[in-house]
Amino acid sequence: MPRVSADRSVALSEVITLHDNTVEAHLRRLCDTGRPGARLPSVRDLQREFRVSPITVQRAVRSLVMEGRAIARPGDGTFIAKPATAFSESLDHSWQTAVLGRAPQVQSGLDHLASAPTASTIALDNSFPDSGLQAHHLLTAAAIRSARRPESWDRCSPQGLPQLRAVFARELGDQFSADDVLVTPGTQAALDSIFRVLARPGDPVVLEDPCYPGAIIAARLSGLKPTPVATDEFGIVPDSLADVLAISGARLVVLQPRHSNPTGSVLSPERRTAVLAIAREFGCFIVEDDWVRDLDLDGPTGPPLIVDDPHGHVISLRSLSKSLAPGLRVAAVIARGPALARLTSARLAADFFVAPMMQATACEVLTSPGWHRHVGQLRTTLGQRRDLLCNTLLERAPSLQLRAPSGGVALWVKLPPAMSDSALAAECDRRGVRISPGSIYALTERSEPHVRIAFARSDPAMLVTAAERIADAIVAVER
Ligand SMILES: Cc1ncc(COP(=O)(O)O)c(C=O)c1O
Repeated sequence: MPRVSADRSVALSEVITLHDNTVEAHLRRLCDTGRPGARLPSVRDLQREFRVSPITVQRAVRSLVMEGRAIARPGDGTFIAKPATAFSESLDHSWQTAVLGRAPQVQSGLDHLASAPTASTIALDNSFPDSGLQAHHLLTAAAIRSARRPESWDRCSPQGLPQLRAVFARELGDQFSADDVLVTPGTQAALDSIFRVLARPGDPVVLEDPCYPGAIIAARLSGLKPTPVATDEFGIVPDSLADVLAISGARLVVLQPRHSNPTGSVLSPERRTAVLAIAREFGCFIVEDDWVRDLDLDGPTGPPLIVDDPHGHVISLRSLSKSLAPGLRVAAVIARGPALARLTSARLAADFFVAPMMQATACEVLTSPGWHRHVGQLRTTLGQRRDLLCNTLLERAPSLQLRAPSGGVALWVKLPPAMSDSALAAECDRRGVRISPGSIYALTERSEPHVRIAFARSDPAMLVTAAERIADAIVAVER
């Protein structure tokens, strides 16, 4: 173990005897074992001892400085930082419970976003394509170009950068302009704003049953009452929608017409017409959550619903998270009339505007020649992964019922009638595979148990391994 020598610098001879011979690993160990304030070896010494470039050494030092384990004093050297002093466990925060009252009873179903799976776990509960499928090459080039422009660091209008809004408008056709577009930090944030701004606490909001859990939690936290409407393989059932609107008086309906999460259904052309007619008849808003706009895997499923609605009933949400990168946090709301104006004011109240740097980067990517090529390749890869997972599951676990969805990122799988979805998910978890029990999507009691299995985040070998483990888990649960 290296020690800090009496002259406050660390003995390099000890450093090189360690097993992990990277500069960073050694510096890390010196920081762990040395005295706070002791000087770390100079870049030149490290470079000579480890036979690496000065850039490699500087990178290693930088990463320790960023972690707060070392302090760089330009012109003087780099020193071991004082470790952070953790608060003692006796600190009492219970007063907050008294002030805040009962915690809201919301089961989010989004826990996978907060807790990273262990390295050996295959995460089929996660919809985001793995980093190999994200457009990093396009993003990097676009971010460098954007960073050079002063306006990327300045304030901008709460509605968003005009150039980016124009790009989102052009995607929909001539009848839309930049004025119809609001930029938001993701469509989840857009759902949250819509629930807070276009409804009042206590109001009902109609959600498809089963429904994306992020919409359920956002509705509940805004004080709205999620009100289920029936769906089948062609999307929302129009007669059921009309009944629910008549009974509940709801004026806000959230739909995923394209590859609905979780069922994968696509709203049929007849139902598109029927849903728009119902929106006009009842004078309500249809929030079109177009979460996988770019991921029609078997050919186009049709334009967004808003294209057929000149009257301002449809509020369309366009996400880039599944096709570009989830970390960009740039999405669009396309709407008309006072609804858009109110949502824009809400952005101002929430955080003024989405970071212009991120907006400019999105704009650069969407207008770059490589964008359509990237989306084409992504669709091909996701189509292959979908087919592989479907075929392997059907072969290894014949008691499951599933159909390949025509797009999106996940399978909606029907279990044998007596099987518990949560028992199967727990058994899969024990075997190193995470899947989502169907009950987290349910707004009503479901007679048929399902699980949702995403195929976007795992490579083919992982998908086959996961399918085998799921098949074994089914046998174990059936026993
Ligand atoms: C159906 C649906 N809508 C909206 C979102 C939110 O996406 P984002 O905020 O990244 O655009 C998700 C995320 O997975 C989703 O599945």
